[in-house]
Amino acid sequence: MKVASPARRPSFGTKTLTTNKHLIRWVEKMAELCRPDAIHWVDGSQAEYEFLCDRLVEAGTFRRLNQKLWPGCFLARSAPSDVARVEDRTFICSLSKDAAGPTNNWEDPYAMRRKLKQLFKGCMRGRTMYVLPFSMGPVGSPMSGIGVQLTDSPYVVVSMRIMARIGSPVFAEIDKDIKRVVPCMHSVGMPLEPGDEDVPWPCNDEKYIAHFPETREIWSFGSGYGGNALLSKKCFALRIASNIARDEGWMAEHMLILGVQSPDGEKTYVAAAFPSACGKTNFAMMIPPKAMKGWKVSTLGDDIAWIRPDANGQLRAINPEAGFFGVAAGTSAKTNPAAMATLSKNSIFTNVALTPQGGVWWEGMTDQPPAECEDWRGERWTPEIGETTGRTAAHPNGRFTAPAAQCPTMDKDWESPVGVPISAIIFGGRRSTTLPLVYQAFNWSSGVYIGATMGSETTAAATGAVGRVRRDPMAMLPFCGYHMGDYFRHWLKMQRGLDTTPRIFHVNWFRKDENGKFLWPGFSENMRVLRWIVERVQGHTHGRETAIGWVPRYEDIDWSGLKFERAEFDELMKVDHAAWRKEVIDHEGLFIDLHDHLPPEMIYERELLICRL
Ligand code: OXD
Ligand code: MN
Repeated sequence: MKVASPARRPSFGTKTLTTNKHLIRWVEKMAELCRPDAIHWVDGSQAEYEFLCDRLVEAGTFRRLNQKLWPGCFLARSAPSDVARVEDRTFICSLSKDAAGPTNNWEDPYAMRRKLKQLFKGCMRGRTMYVLPFSMGPVGSPMSGIGVQLTDSPYVVVSMRIMARIGSPVFAEIDKDIKRVVPCMHSVGMPLEPGDEDVPWPCNDEKYIAHFPETREIWSFGSGYGGNALLSKKCFALRIASNIARDEGWMAEHMLILGVQSPDGEKTYVAAAFPSACGKTNFAMMIPPKAMKGWKVSTLGDDIAWIRPDANGQLRAINPEAGFFGVAAGTSAKTNPAAMATLSKNSIFTNVALTPQGGVWWEGMTDQPPAECEDWRGERWTPEIGETTGRTAAHPNGRFTAPAAQCPTMDKDWESPVGVPISAIIFGGRRSTTLPLVYQAFNWSSGVYIGATMGSETTAAATGAVGRVRRDPMAMLPFCGYHMGDYFRHWLKMQRGLDTTPRIFHVNWFRKDENGKFLWPGFSENMRVLRWIVERVQGHTHGRETAIGWVPRYEDIDWSGLKFERAEFDELMKVDHAAWRKEVIDHEGLFIDLHDHLPPEMIYERELLICRL
């Protein structure tokens, strides 16, 4: 098949859209290095989006789905080697190795720059370089941040149009020259020589996702997928922003944000950190059980929160993103109806299955799989083939990219330039044993300890083994752009400037019995736990003290419409001291790694916990 390259149709985006001399000079310099055939200034318009989507269809990267069933939707299939974030190829290139800490891959910034220069030299030949300005947070908000990504991937441009605010309004903001702009270089690393035919998903086996915290720069080479390539998300909004936040006294966190409204109209906002693929999107869009009359949950974000103290010493949060890049597998009308409504139109699907009707499908979307479909690789798949080969139709990290504005549960203040006040912070992980359904930290410092020692069984969001417990402090292990010990110190320090300190909780939806069966139904039933949490925050309910923190008694939970016996609850809530002693010993592993930067409060908290056990 002859594939037309988007590079050969430079009829769009040729006008320079900024007057900012630094930006223009940088673009020229980078074009000099990367040698693209054309430069496209991204205005972010609908016409441009459609133009790029058409080019992506021509190039074979996109398939247009059946427009009756899935209006405005496309399916992309990545190269089978480019399906997840590559943590072992992700680097923090701070001036000193110590600043990056033992949980990051460090590389000397000078050595990395030399390497990147070689790799980027001529890397965009035969392609178009897109100049893609983006605002993390509402354009013009004092809580927002701005970046410009140069990329040779039109897939990245159209995905970023969903995930962030992009284009002309952001150029206008840059032209005001008030905020520092984070430069983000990205190439799929597959130049085309004259006469070369392109492939639908260009990428390179050699991958580098490099961050320079001191100069606030990102360079990404070789991958076109997710967090490796949409540099606004994990690279900017977490790894670089965590550095900026530490220096400026705020927090860039891997957290969802939601609002809870009680039947008498009291509103409480909550932020929650769970590791990748632990149900953050489901929790953020939860629809309370019908029997819990009058309770409402609204969504502000499902992945990242930027949190700052305001002039009154109250933490306020924005979601810097504008879309959801959610794991498709397991998402259904039963598990997350709001997500299904959100992704029903104007969405991009990557690495899920294609049905003969021109729709998409993934494991868990319906009880009954389609009789036949094309799997995420484009090969014929039937339930029988799946059974005999063990292959799933969708990749377990297959994703939907969908506009937040389409989500029926969005909070009316989700784009407020001053964010929303945060009253509770929830940590959580995927733990089949030991961790009870919910408990509340005694105070901020014990809460920081709980976050710092969080663990979770690994999932498919990153490459590597699945199903083993790894310590993932505040769900930031892959995303904290500096020394984790200093990050804990920053958390402790944040409280000092606050007049009202959010309460801290830990939840675990994934505890199992000795036969491997989940003890808790999860999903919308999590509302019962959330109700206890917000009522604790508002001082409306009780708790019982245990060695690890405050827990609800059976009678403190709203059981309306759910049959859940006291004995089941006791098992789910059990604080087994023998298991907890092992757990505390396991906390040591991380603390030993971090010892020379570990704040003393973490040692005191561990000692207190040991005494209570
Ligand atoms: C994500 C992740 O993609 O955390 O959100 O891996
Ligand atoms: Mn995430």
